[in-house]
Amino acid sequence: RNVRILGAPTDYGANRRGVDMGPSAIRYGGLTSQLESAGVSVTDAGDLTVPHHATRDADAGAENAKHIQEVEEVCTALADAVSTSISDGETPLALGGDHSIAIGSMVGSARDADIGVVWFDAHGDFNTPETSPSGNVHGMPLAAALGIGDFAGVEWANAAGLKEENVAIVGLRDVDRNEAAAIRDTDVTAYTMSDIDERGITEVTQDALDVATSGTDGIHVSLDLDWLDPREAPGVGTPVRGGATYREAHAAMELVAKSDALRSLELVEVNPILDQHNETATLATELAASAFGKRIL
Ligand code: ARG
Ligand code: MN
Ligand code: MN
Ligand code: MN
Repeated sequence: RNVRILGAPTDYGANRRGVDMGPSAIRYGGLTSQLESAGVSVTDAGDLTVPHHATRDADAGAENAKHIQEVEEVCTALADAVSTSISDGETPLALGGDHSIAIGSMVGSARDADIGVVWFDAHGDFNTPETSPSGNVHGMPLAAALGIGDFAGVEWANAAGLKEENVAIVGLRDVDRNEAAAIRDTDVTAYTMSDIDERGITEVTQDALDVATSGTDGIHVSLDLDWLDPREAPGVGTPVRGGATYREAHAAMELVAKSDALRSLELVEVNPILDQHNETATLATELAASAFGKRIL
């Protein structure tokens, strides 16, 4: 397998500086050599151009969807880069940046295919501008891509044509009240940390993969590092106690590799300013290697 690294150094969806340095931190954490140890060949396409904060109005966008224009710009460019990478025969690995970039990754991955999505996250990222408590678009990408609420008919975000039945969220433990209602109203499958406690990571991840692969051409895996417990991954903007352990995360990524369905992957929400000795970025590289099939023997 060939992998193409695509950096998306943006923090417009998070309204918090630092996460824009994620791609640098993840590369510095040894991404290329980790991937090579998984037996894949790696091309690094560098970073997308993200408009600099200094050139943009600090209050741009609506109060309930901050910097939505910049998010659209970045996602549109990322969608093109992801889709080109796939047609060139290289599996795209997008590096965030905040989780708003997932809209672009999914649109690009779905351009010439029907895809499923597995979303590893503490959060649902299922808010819409009307339900969001923060106005931060990184809390909205799944709703945006699925065309929920205000996002209905927003072509740049809905273009993936995702089917709710092929979307699975794994690891929920911090969901806003109206966001929870929105998730329940859809045919999206959502697994909380309690499901992982009760059934174990293997069974839950396998179910999620079955949801995403059923009748699709491949899957997009979106890995928000705050899915992990903050003890393992402190370098994130919205940490929540009680997350996946180091071993659970590797076990899940190994199942992703085993599914042989991975069409695109992204690593998001690494914030080196909040990290300890770059350990969250380094962990992200290890998990990517597992998702691409790294084996010990
Ligand atoms: N639910 C909160 C919000 O909508 C937090 C979202 C966190 N999302 C993330 N990708 N880290 O503002
Ligand atoms: Mn499609
Ligand atoms: Mn999250
Ligand atoms: Mn997220």
